[in-house]
Amino acid sequence: MKKLVIIGARAMGREVCTYAQNIGFDVKGFLDDNTDALEEFNGYPPILDSAENYEVKDNDVFIVALGDPKFKRYYAELIMKKGGEFTSIVHPTAFVGRNVKLGLGCVVCPNTTLTSNIAIGNHVIVNVNSSISHDCNIGDYVTVSPGCHVAGHCSIADGVFLGVHSALIPDVTIGNSVFVAAGAVVVESVASGRVMGVPAKSK
Ligand SMILES: CC(C)(COP(=O)(O)OP(=O)(O)OC[C@H]1O[C@@H](n2cnc3c(N)ncnc32)[C@H](O)[C@@H]1OP(=O)(O)O)[C@@H](O)C(=O)NCCC(=O)NCCS
Repeated sequence: MKKLVIIGARAMGREVCTYAQNIGFDVKGFLDDNTDALEEFNGYPPILDSAENYEVKDNDVFIVALGDPKFKRYYAELIMKKGGEFTSIVHPTAFVGRNVKLGLGCVVCPNTTLTSNIAIGNHVIVNVNSSISHDCNIGDYVTVSPGCHVAGHCSIADGVFLGVHSALIPDVTIGNSVFVAAGAVVVESVASGRVMGVPAKSK
């Protein structure tokens, strides 16, 4: 049986470990360059090594548990270069509707909703209590923080970060690596940079 190795033993790593164990994954441990990251936390599998030094084993399967899209990309590429394979985790309390395609290395967290006809790339996290509505395209390495709502027909490019409790109205397009601040309501397409506020403006 494959054993799950979680990249990142910080807050999101601990959350992803719990979700994975909930659905029956055998979690082998974490990769993190801070070997003390779990010192104050009981009951977790061990930190095995840093991602840089770790040697991929035959029965390993990986997932990145980091919020920053840049770091997700860095570590996913590092492990893929070593031949590592990624899996996705979908918590059983998530609603996943018809024609929802999910890439590899994704985390779909508790109490999320992916309604219908949605394409989601690789290494995307849809964090707790978020929703993505019909006919959306989500690129690779996107982070959807807790309590975000993406309305229908939106397109979100690679590396976008949606801050906690942000929202997109229908038909919005978000360009590569855009950062949407916490609580922002995006009412028009954003090509680049950072936006915040209601309605969201560049800042
Ligand atoms: C945007 C963000 C990164 C802060 O950036 P920052 O440059 O450090 O911001 P500062 O705290 O220095 O504030 C700069 C200004 O922006 C305002 N501001 C900061 N965050 C804001 C937000 N989310 N919405 C509106 N205004 C915001 C501040 O009030 C301040 O305004 P002022 O210049 O009038 O005083 C942060 O607020 C944010 O949204 N982070 C997302 C975190 C998140 O969702 N994490 C997910 C965890 S699971």
